[in-house]
Amino acid sequence: MKLTLLLLEDSNDDAELVLAELEMGGYAVEVEQVYTRQGMVAALARRQDWDLIISDHNMPGFSSIDALLILINSGLDIPLIIVSGTIGEEMAVEVMKAGAKDYVMKDNLSRLGPAVKNAIESAQAKRCALDYQQRLRELGVHLESVREQERAAIARDIHDEIGGLLTALKMDVRWLARRNDGTTGEITDKLDCMGEHLDRAIRCVRRIITDLRPSVLDDLGLFAALEWQLEEFRKRYGVDCRFRIDDGLKSCENCEHSITVFRIFQESLNNIAKHARATRVEVSAIRKEGALLLSVEDNGVGISEESKHKHGSYGLIGMNERAMAIAGEFRITAIEGGGTRLVLRIPCQKT
Ligand SMILES: Nc1ncnc2c1ncn2[C@@H]1O[C@H](COP(=O)(O)OP(=O)(O)OP(=O)(O)O)[C@@H](O)[C@H]1O
Ligand SMILES: [Mg+2]
Repeated sequence: MKLTLLLLEDSNDDAELVLAELEMGGYAVEVEQVYTRQGMVAALARRQDWDLIISDHNMPGFSSIDALLILINSGLDIPLIIVSGTIGEEMAVEVMKAGAKDYVMKDNLSRLGPAVKNAIESAQAKRCALDYQQRLRELGVHLESVREQERAAIARDIHDEIGGLLTALKMDVRWLARRNDGTTGEITDKLDCMGEHLDRAIRCVRRIITDLRPSVLDDLGLFAALEWQLEEFRKRYGVDCRFRIDDGLKSCENCEHSITVFRIFQESLNNIAKHARATRVEVSAIRKEGALLLSVEDNGVGISEESKHKHGSYGLIGMNERAMAIAGEFRITAIEGGGTRLVLRIPCQKT
């Protein structure tokens, strides 16, 4: 099996022993050997796809702990095994804590083969899991955008088809009412009743369309839409609501992520209605360092740590995924003394 190895070792004899051991373990090793801080930094800059780093513990002016720090700072996820003649048990625990995958004593090099196999396999498994996670996230984003498009299409169809039919029916009822001579009370009552039913149906269709694709978002822009949604919430649940917005944001039209922000906001209000038992909700939108900060605070029972990871609950996961999909951040925490605070931070050029 091919193995690209960055070997941090100042003794050429020891380096040869390590390589011989690896070859005996069936690895075709492509190696670069360095033994200084600069050497390691340069090697990591030159290539980032090393399969493995093996590091001696003590080198002149350089140690395995230094190597681990450089590796962590580089952000690269390469397994590092320490091969040492001198490392004591305490130090071994330290380096494992600092992120080393394993340590092998130079007088027991036969352990190197299995240690390397282990490290490489777990690195591969981790890469697979991350890759899978990334693909799931992309799928989530894709499904979300398909869903928004479908909602908009359904809203349009309902508006054009059913809305049109209801309006026509309403005109017909009016036409009949005008020609009704009023001599048959039952007919007059029926016509009144039909008129009322039609009005209710028209209001109902309007509400469904608005739920599917809030036209305020298109008509008035994000912040007016948020304010409108909060007002709807206040009317429905009788909760005292405040909306505070940066003066600079007030006149803003939509930013490129309006629908995402709006959906997260809707879910946060849903959650407050469902779980918080709050009597007050405060929403604020401010602009800070090229980003939009939206915070939603309630004075309810407060979210517990366990409920953040509830099985079968998808609201928080959805909010988090939506935020991540647009390079934003999402945090929800219990407020000391009661209540819950949700903070959404998204990069927003237009605002
Ligand atoms: N504002 C809040 N105050 C108190 N608890 C909250 C609040 N928001 C969320 N929670 C807790 O967090 C849990 C997870 O929320 P989440 O939105 O993920 O799921 P859900 O609302 O239970 O179900 P759904 O999948 O329908 O959204 C909730 O069940 C609730 O216990
Ligand atoms: Mg929810």
